[in-house]
Order: sequence, then C-alpha cells, then structure tokens
Amino acid sequence: MHIPVLTIDGPSGAGKGTVSRIVAKKLGWNYLDSGSIYRSLAIALQKTSVDLANVSEIVKVAQVMALEFECGDELIVKLNGEDITSRLGLESTGHIASRIAALPDVRRVLLQKQQDFRQAPGLVADGRDMGTVVFPDAENKVFLTASAAKRAERRYKQLIEKEIDANLIQITREIEERDRRDMERKAAPLAMAVDALYIDSSEMTIDAVVEDVLNLIR
Ligand code: C5P
Repeated sequence: MHIPVLTIDGPSGAGKGTVSRIVAKKLGWNYLDSGSIYRSLAIALQKTSVDLANVSEIVKVAQVMALEFECGDELIVKLNGEDITSRLGLESTGHIASRIAALPDVRRVLLQKQQDFRQAPGLVADGRDMGTVVFPDAENKVFLTASAAKRAERRYKQLIEKEIDANLIQITREIEERDRRDMERKAAPLAMAVDALYIDSSEMTIDAVVEDVLNLIR
C-alpha cells in the first residue's frame, strides 16, 4: 500500500515542529520529529561517556539504542526504557546532536529508524533532510525557514516563558553556528529539495503557515 508523506525541512527555530504537529493532527497522520532521534543519540552518548571523536563507538551506541515515541499532546521519548523528554530540548543536547549529525556513518544507521515511521494513513516528517534523503519520493515537500534574528527571538521567548535564563545575543550566535554546521556538512546538508514549496515564516503566524501547508496537500 502506498503511504503518503509530507516532509517539512528547514533550519532550527523556523517553526517546523509546531507546524508539523498541527498539520499531522489535522490530517490524522503520524508524526516524525527526526531531530529528536539525533537528540536521543546525543543523550545516549552523554550517558555512556563516549568520546565524540570516536566514530565507531558512536555508531555502536546508535545501533543498540532502543527508542520509543509516544505521540500524545506532547511528544514523550524513552531511551532504553527511560523517559528522556525533559533533556531533549536542552541547548547542550542540540549542540551534541548537531555535531554527531555531521557523521555519515551515524546518519546511515539512523536512516531506517526514521523510514520505519512511514505508517498508514500517512506521515508528516520534520527535519533537515526529510525531502532530500530520507523520503525523496514524498509527494508533498515544504522548506520552512525564517531569518536567524527571528528564530533567535522566538527561542529566547520560549526559554523565558519556561523561566530558563537566556541571553538573546548568545542564542543568535548559537543559531548561526548550528545553521552553518548543518548547511556546510558533507553528509545530507540542510538544503531545499528542488520540488519543495519555500515558506519564509519570519512575518507569518503559525496559523498562516499551517494554512499554506494544508493548501499544498489539498
Ligand atoms: O531539529 P532539531 O533542532 O531537534 O535537530 C537537532 C540537530 O539534529 C540539528 O541541528 C541537526 O544537526 C540534526 N538533524 C539532522 N537531520 C535531521 C534532523 C536533525 O541532521 N533530519
């Protein structure tokens, strides 16, 4: 049976997660937050104290880690049975995730884990290479972006709302550094698929972006 896929790629903080979750809910489709797979591996590596320069050890950890995703109102992720949801969003986790995501062997091991999410009646897949590498045959592809300044501002507000100490200048710098690393890496760099719809959300509300994405599917 053919299972439709909608891919939403773009840099961090463009609103992919929020938009993907809403669209998946409206369509009644499954949702893949592929960044959380890289983030889970980052946490697994922290737990086992593997040296980030040791690629073969990193690959071994990636091969044996057991991940469970519970997609309710909020995504709950379990790593080898332990709930790691509260650590997933940390800046330190994202930083390590982006470093190990540059390793081709790591991406190869994680490819099948991501493709397994393609289950009926459909899938919304959010990440960097969903439309280019993981689901190149997806019939609907979106590239969602926003200026680095806007993305930093949104991230800053999120942290302040959660009463986490934050510094806007530092966040902007980190976002720019992560963009650079994600775009310049050789393995599956962040790039727009030729057949993707380009949306710049800098001056758009979430509802407007959701509407554009749903119109694409309709
Ligand atoms: O999207 P999120 O910020 O959770 O992703 C964390 C990191 O994982 C990104 O900075 C990126 O380096 C990596 N990633 C990736 N490919 C994906 C999703 C995430 O390389 N499809």
